[in-house]
Amino acid sequence: MLINNINYRTVWMQDASVYLINQRVLPHEFEIYQSKTFIDTANAIKTMIVRGAPAIGATGAYGLAQAASAFEGENFDNFNEYVNKAFNVLNSARPTANDLSYGLNFVKSKMFIENSITNSKMRAFELARQYADWSAELCRQIGVYGNNLIQNNQNILTHCNAGALACVDYGTALSPIRIAHYKKKNIFVYVDETRPRNQGTSLTAWELAQEKINHSIIADNAAGYYMKTGKIDFAIVGADRIAMNGDVANKIGTYEKAVLAKENNIPFYVAAPLSTFDINSITGDDIPIEERSDEEILYISGLDENNKIKKVRIAPQQSSGKNPAFDVTPAKYMTGIITEKGVIKPNREEIERFVKNSTSFINN
Ligand code: MRU
Repeated sequence: MLINNINYRTVWMQDASVYLINQRVLPHEFEIYQSKTFIDTANAIKTMIVRGAPAIGATGAYGLAQAASAFEGENFDNFNEYVNKAFNVLNSARPTANDLSYGLNFVKSKMFIENSITNSKMRAFELARQYADWSAELCRQIGVYGNNLIQNNQNILTHCNAGALACVDYGTALSPIRIAHYKKKNIFVYVDETRPRNQGTSLTAWELAQEKINHSIIADNAAGYYMKTGKIDFAIVGADRIAMNGDVANKIGTYEKAVLAKENNIPFYVAAPLSTFDINSITGDDIPIEERSDEEILYISGLDENNKIKKVRIAPQQSSGKNPAFDVTPAKYMTGIITEKGVIKPNREEIERFVKNSTSFINN
């Protein structure tokens, strides 16, 4: 992605450090976070320095390579055990996004070679880099398929941030929007603010502004108004985990937007790579939903009068909050799922055909 005319990825690795665009300080500051240990990398996922399903998948993959490189010793069994422990630490950093375990499994399942610790360490690094490259390319392909669905002069609604920041590059939901813009289609994006973490306001709007794509941020509560008054032609969101029947877990609030879209006859698309489909989730009821701290509801942060990031309480001292980070949208509300292999109908037969028969990266 272009940031101040320089090409960046959300995550990369160099000399055993993992580097991340620090999403906690955007849009006010642009900062690169250096993680020197796999524990720091797991914490960066947990505290949302990096967030978004494909981005944490690639971060997990790099984190495992980083863990492997830090192992000291000669015993291969001990190395194996150490890598497995690191896998568990990284994998438990966040529960909902399928891509995290997908990226970790990709590296772990292929990294051990020839009973050689040195070769396995090098292989882990190479695999993590391959995974990140592959993930970026899939998102580009999603953009190509998704762009075909976007007409000139359309107004598009999106929720949360499913942009390049949520991936290695390009984005999922924002990739078709990016490509439509590059193809000179005249489009306008309605960006849901996405309380409580405001990923729409602070990340999606920032990415669109970087690319000079026309947009406005709207209060989450305003999406229904704009749909009913005919201002929105098309809705597109990302996904954290997709069950085999087509139910989609995504950022809290996605469900109500999808129901409203159906009520108003607006096409509602989900954009996600096949790595987001979970063959072990038969329906959306099987998807674990992360419950986050109520601090995210009770406090808000922004710039103070001295241009410093400041966190302030907005709720009564006596009140507590409840904060599910994701919800599940039943398949019946979706028009289609845009993947790197094309647009899938959200039903079990079609999903099984694509996911089980796909020569996905992990099986290569
Ligand atoms: O809690 P977050 O910010 O990690 O949630 C992210 C989302 O819900 C995104 O929409 C999803 O990961 C798809 S990203 C390409």
